[in-house]
Amino acid sequence: MLRTLSVPLAAALFIFTVGVEGRAPQGGRGREGAPGAQGGRGREGAPGAQGGQGRGGRGQVTLPDGAGKEMVTATCGTCHGLNQIVNSRGYTRDGWQKLFATMVALPNDQVESMSTYLATNFPLKPGPDAVIVPGQASVNFREWLLPTLGQRPHDPLAAADGSVWWTGQFAARLGRVDPPTNAIREFPLPTPDTQAHGLVEDSAGNIWYTAINKQYIGKLDPRTGQVTEYPVPEPGRNPHTPIFDQKGTLWFTMQSGHVGRVIPSTGEVRVQATPSTGTYPYGIRVNSKGVPWYVDFRGPRIGSVDPVTMQITEHPLPNADARPRRIAITSDDAIWYTDYPRGMIGRFDPSTHTVKEYPSPGGPQSLPYGIAHVGDVIWYSESGVRPNTLVRFDTRTERFQTWAIPAGGGVVRHMMASKEGNLVLAESGVNHVALVEVR
Ligand code: HEC
Repeated sequence: MLRTLSVPLAAALFIFTVGVEGRAPQGGRGREGAPGAQGGRGREGAPGAQGGQGRGGRGQVTLPDGAGKEMVTATCGTCHGLNQIVNSRGYTRDGWQKLFATMVALPNDQVESMSTYLATNFPLKPGPDAVIVPGQASVNFREWLLPTLGQRPHDPLAAADGSVWWTGQFAARLGRVDPPTNAIREFPLPTPDTQAHGLVEDSAGNIWYTAINKQYIGKLDPRTGQVTEYPVPEPGRNPHTPIFDQKGTLWFTMQSGHVGRVIPSTGEVRVQATPSTGTYPYGIRVNSKGVPWYVDFRGPRIGSVDPVTMQITEHPLPNADARPRRIAITSDDAIWYTDYPRGMIGRFDPSTHTVKEYPSPGGPQSLPYGIAHVGDVIWYSESGVRPNTLVRFDTRTERFQTWAIPAGGGVVRHMMASKEGNLVLAESGVNHVALVEVR
């Protein structure tokens, strides 16, 4: 069963042209899923499921008294909990202004009084800073501030035509930037509060996305703005990250402890539970033989899926505290993953079932997150250091190199390599997408 919805094209396409952003590092790390035994808070942006508390649980936090408190409470609690402010690393007055300018546009007098209040009550705190490791490779960051503020670009996509797409999770939209011209278009999605989360492109140029809050897989035809929704059958819930295999079958992970599959030619959608209960299949990629592999963010394990029967096999990781969050598969079909709470990256060899771990340069609290590969080189981002870093790891020499992400990163939840060997990043908390040109 599927639903086809159209948004009138004039309304669907907001067209913007903006300049390239080249701002100073500003940090920002919108922590989602504090590390711990649970490996994160599990529900990632599904307000309905939290009993209407709002994203991040808005109810409990009260701010310290002072001029500006009322204004901050009213203005800043609409998209997320005030806990984002209380738990943040803090900023200077200027840093606060730069950060919230990516979320909300306000008159000058309000900007002045709110940033004064915030800098007084939430000044810079010490914490892990970016560790810059020099090396031979060189990169060029291009970053774009997204037109709809505070939209939480969750995942990025490097499309075949060279454009960069993203999911605007908090604003029910997808977006596209054309790097040669800097033209940006946003495509509002017809179902409100959809919370588009992950996205991939099919061979015909359609953009498929997971609606983490509305239990469907969507397909946007960018030429017409038409959206087709493929409902996810119970008991699967909260579709998370999609990926295509070599035959054009769409695979996706679910927060409910399932992996799902859409066969686009028939519209058939099926879900399969993982063998263990209480799992959270998170990042997913397909190896050279067409086998989907995913990582479980709620346990020390990764999983593989039989592409025909959908039978899932779980592969334990040796350290009980491992919480692999995102995955990359190199050409030798080795599984690489970011071990988020432990500040490690790991390599799992599917033929020997052995694991090799490497501590990330930013240390045990560096929270490595989005990961991708280009040839035998692994790229990932550390989301726990300020500013977030881009890390290069050469799997042959086992050497690291790192760069500070200019706009701060704001938690890079996912990244993807383009066919040219460049990288695209979504900087979720600072409302940017980035194209990293690798030289
Ligand atoms: C239009 C929506 C929106 C509004 C309004 C908004 N924010 Fe945010 N903010 C976001 C998003 C999206 C994130 C990323 C949250 C996440 O990824 O969990 C975020 C994250 C944050 C963070 C955590 C990131 C960090 O660097 O520590 C802070 C602090 C923050 N916001 C402060 C504010 C303040 C202060 C205001 C009011 C001036 C505000 N926000 C208003 C959308 C918004």
